[in-house]
Amino acid sequence: MSTGECSVILGVGSFVPSKVVDNAELSKKVDTSDEWIQSRTGIQQRHFADDQESTSDLALGAARNAISNAGISTDLIDLVVVATITPDMAFPSTACQLQHKLGLGKVASFDLEAACSGFLYALDVADAMLASGRYRHALVVGAEKMSSIMDWKDRTTCVLFGDGAGAVVLGRKGKGPQLLGFQSGADGANPTLLYQPAGGSKAPASKNSIENREHFLRMNGREIFKSAVRVMEMASRQLLAAHDIDPAEVDHVIPHQANVRIVESLANRLELPIDKFFCNLERHGNTSAASIPLALDEATRLGILKPGQLGLMVAFGAGLTWSATLVRF
Ligand code: UT7
Repeated sequence: MSTGECSVILGVGSFVPSKVVDNAELSKKVDTSDEWIQSRTGIQQRHFADDQESTSDLALGAARNAISNAGISTDLIDLVVVATITPDMAFPSTACQLQHKLGLGKVASFDLEAACSGFLYALDVADAMLASGRYRHALVVGAEKMSSIMDWKDRTTCVLFGDGAGAVVLGRKGKGPQLLGFQSGADGANPTLLYQPAGGSKAPASKNSIENREHFLRMNGREIFKSAVRVMEMASRQLLAAHDIDPAEVDHVIPHQANVRIVESLANRLELPIDKFFCNLERHGNTSAASIPLALDEATRLGILKPGQLGLMVAFGAGLTWSATLVRF
């Protein structure tokens, strides 16, 4: 929860592939409509990577922007954490691919998997590693090629997701938003609410698993919706209470971008006006671990987050996982 002096965000950046698919275009190959998608989710379009672009390529674009905005030499980065559920390969890690593509030193690099909460989990973990004094600057990335695990025959899921990446450079000292604390949790009781059935050790790839389309994401949308609102409120309230902060003192909430109706329900439960919530899901869809850093980067570039204001970032995802982070801009 409260970790005393936390890390500073020295720079933030994001990257999305150039291909944009709007709801009208999607409706040509999926039995859906712009009206259904917008009214049920708020999504208007999403970006999709092409066949040659993998998650580490998206991460590379975001990382370069974050490093450039941090204004530090890559020599100073000694830790790379990539949050993703769509790694380039099961192993080695996407973080290792990224480290090499960026031309970093032979620094500690690993992936972290907490689904849509992954980026905030990664911030929590990287901050603790920096606080240990054994690392000085961390590159923390949320990157996803969700299109690689979407089932185009399942209209209840394939209209929801998009591809993209966001990144931050963290340091112990310097100019930039100051992280104040973290609240991460999980409940593994119901893994099949949102999961990828095959491809792991429980159900390795086989002719059957492919025929049954088990390498694609599956979700019980209604149950996830209800859990999402509940756990995001819980994590937010616990974190704010641990810091003796009233929800009304929060200036900006950057929530996981899954569904605008989830964001509205969260705003109601926290009794906060909806205009405190930054949303860009209408242009990106749900980009899983990339959604919060993508939103953070856009809000930063728009100049919405004024120095001294208080921010709350909060996410939920498969697992179920949840995580919240407080930040003083
Ligand atoms: O990052 C975490 C990941 N996931 C989420 O956060 C998703 C959480 N869940 C949700 O956002 C919502 O539950 C959905 C957007 C997935 C679904 O919205 P809903 O209001 O819960 O719809 P529903 O599942 O209750 O389906 C309503 C109707 C059904 O038809 P019937 O049974 O009422 O005749 C569906 O078959 O909408 C139908 N439907 C569609 N119709 C057109 C489902 N998907 C589509 C579609 N286009 N793409």
